[in-house]
Amino acid sequence: MSIIFDSERNTFKLDTAQSSYIIKIRDGGYLLNLYYGAKIPDTYVAGRESRSPTASFSPVDAEAGNFCPDTAPLEYSTNGAGDLRVSALSVRNKDGNSVTDIRYDGHKIYKGKLPINGMPSTYANTEDEAETLEIYAKDCVTGARVTLYYTVFEKYSVMTRRAMIENTSDEPMKLERAMSLSLDLPEMDYDMITLWGAHNMERNIERRPLSHGIQGVESKRGSSSHAQNPFMALAKRGADEEHGEVFGFNLVYSGNHSLLAECDYNSATRVIIGINPTDFIWNLGAGERFDTPECVMVYSDGGLGEMSRTFHRFYNNNLVRGKYKYEKRPLLINHWEATTFDITTEKLVEFAKAAKELGFEMLVMDDGWFGKRYNSKSSLGDWYVNEDKLPGGLEPLISQVNAFGLKFGIWYEPEMISPDSDLYRAHPDWCVHVPGRVPKLGRTQLVLDVSRKEVRDHVFGMMREVLKNHNISYVKWDFNRNLSDAGSAALTKEQGGEFFHRFVLGTYDLMDRLTTEFPDILLENCSGGGGRFDPAMLAYSPQIWTSDNSEAIHRLKIQFGTSLCYPASAMGAHVSRKGSAPLKTRADVAMWGSFGYELDPRTFSAEERETVKAQVADYHKYYELMHTGDLYRLVSPFENPYLAAWEIVSEDKGEALVTVVTVKQEQHRNLVLRPRGLDENKTYKNSFNGQICSGRTLMKAGIAVHTANSADGESLTVCINEVK
Ligand code: GLA
Repeated sequence: MSIIFDSERNTFKLDTAQSSYIIKIRDGGYLLNLYYGAKIPDTYVAGRESRSPTASFSPVDAEAGNFCPDTAPLEYSTNGAGDLRVSALSVRNKDGNSVTDIRYDGHKIYKGKLPINGMPSTYANTEDEAETLEIYAKDCVTGARVTLYYTVFEKYSVMTRRAMIENTSDEPMKLERAMSLSLDLPEMDYDMITLWGAHNMERNIERRPLSHGIQGVESKRGSSSHAQNPFMALAKRGADEEHGEVFGFNLVYSGNHSLLAECDYNSATRVIIGINPTDFIWNLGAGERFDTPECVMVYSDGGLGEMSRTFHRFYNNNLVRGKYKYEKRPLLINHWEATTFDITTEKLVEFAKAAKELGFEMLVMDDGWFGKRYNSKSSLGDWYVNEDKLPGGLEPLISQVNAFGLKFGIWYEPEMISPDSDLYRAHPDWCVHVPGRVPKLGRTQLVLDVSRKEVRDHVFGMMREVLKNHNISYVKWDFNRNLSDAGSAALTKEQGGEFFHRFVLGTYDLMDRLTTEFPDILLENCSGGGGRFDPAMLAYSPQIWTSDNSEAIHRLKIQFGTSLCYPASAMGAHVSRKGSAPLKTRADVAMWGSFGYELDPRTFSAEERETVKAQVADYHKYYELMHTGDLYRLVSPFENPYLAAWEIVSEDKGEALVTVVTVKQEQHRNLVLRPRGLDENKTYKNSFNGQICSGRTLMKAGIAVHTANSADGESLTVCINEVK
């Protein structure tokens, strides 16, 4: 049993293999968090119910023994009823105020995990894999009733949390904040680690000590965004890659998010994560309910490395779904970086022929195949074939590609509309806009209002027409701008604050339709590279294009950052012509991901052809290892300007692949590569110097690598294999 209720202490205890979490029901029905951290045997921790009697004139509840909400570790904090820190829930009620106060009203514990209405979430493969606690808490004055969901995945050191708010009164109410989790920790000696970025430089690791006040990351761009990923970790001061306590949080949401930490006057920390309350107001009519997205929480006392490996295993097993969760994905080549919009059947068939000879398994036709799409200025929404480029439609092209033994993939950008499109001319009110304002353009396009069902029906109908009538094995789903002028012609003025979330729900509905109706299609998400790289998207598409920046050296930081919480199997990573790093380095870097190529296969020299064929063979050789193995970040490019090194170790620890890239040459440099994660007692042979020795010797003494002779951008791989 990973969840128990101790009726003597009035506490819930939630255990994973490595962590414990304790909630107390206090007199007066207040729900308090007593503990989250390394696994402990007891169901109660003394001295945690209050930080200090009061602080800063904090109000007290006289009826509950002068309980001071403002100095207590509240399990799901509410607005305006005595707790004056940032809160998880704020309900504007029929009287016009937003005072919200919830008290315990029952609970339920059961095996397994329920899905969320209309939103993606993690799942249990069998009932025994997870256990769920529902705690009910009610505001007696307004009738707002909250269900807090906690699911424990015991073997992964993972808990998921979310909330559902119901209006049990006869009057309408408005949710002004409805966060997925609130977590009060007793100290503030943590560093906050987040992933900031931009187009072409996604997910840079940023680490800063917590300070008093509110800090954190948010998106109000309508998507999870290049700018700030919905990820945050709190690492104990001094915790590093291999040591120390880390809490990792990742919101399973693709829209406006907010991940905050408030350090208060008691130097305690409150974490608040969920939908960004800015531009959010949700109307809850009598009897209606609102579900928040879920947040995944990982606890690690083995540093950031262990946190990442936990996220990776968990996402591979309990988030990614569909045929390609386990099935080998076809090795693809995409023409985009080689040709951009300039495609024809003839050219693509030549690509396919050359690609086949090199061993590729799928040709992806990117942007440019539809409407009058000769550049980015037109035709989004007109999802019918441009027969000037592809005479006779898709059939002649796909059948020729298939005749070479290659699968065929296609590009869409379903949530967008070009002002210069037949769709816009027919339905000008189908774009995201507000009355009286000319909506701003992004990449010369507008956003299609997928919060509207009739719009979704139309766009999906067009996609279905193409997908069901052709042999298409893969869809690249793009999203190339942020939202502005956020409004919908179909919403009432009261519903204006619902737009952003409704838009995200519309996206989920479309992706659900696609993956349900076409379960054999491999879906790859993309958003100007990695602008929507989040766990919710991973629930639909097992891989996501990591960045438009495919230059191998820049990719190091992008992939190191992305790997903080996303597995290698999720990171679309292609060899391209960008930059000056050798072809070998580009492949070695792309191999740490969902491998593919993004160039013109007709342009290879004879020598390059042989190199690529060998890379394709390596791709097959290491596929299993890369997709299911454990990642160890050995030398981070964020910390070392000269080198980057990482290692993937197979689940059974029988095989490992270490990759080292010389970012910048450092003269007379002796690097001792110390692999990690091997079995101390196994015997291994390494491909660098051929020594056969124990795992312990390899990990402690390492492999001495002289990198002085390697030029900028060169790479080295070392295979480590068990010798039986
Ligand atoms: C985005 C994607 C690219 C490519 C183009 C096509 O930028 O990230 O990979 O698909 O759109 O317009």
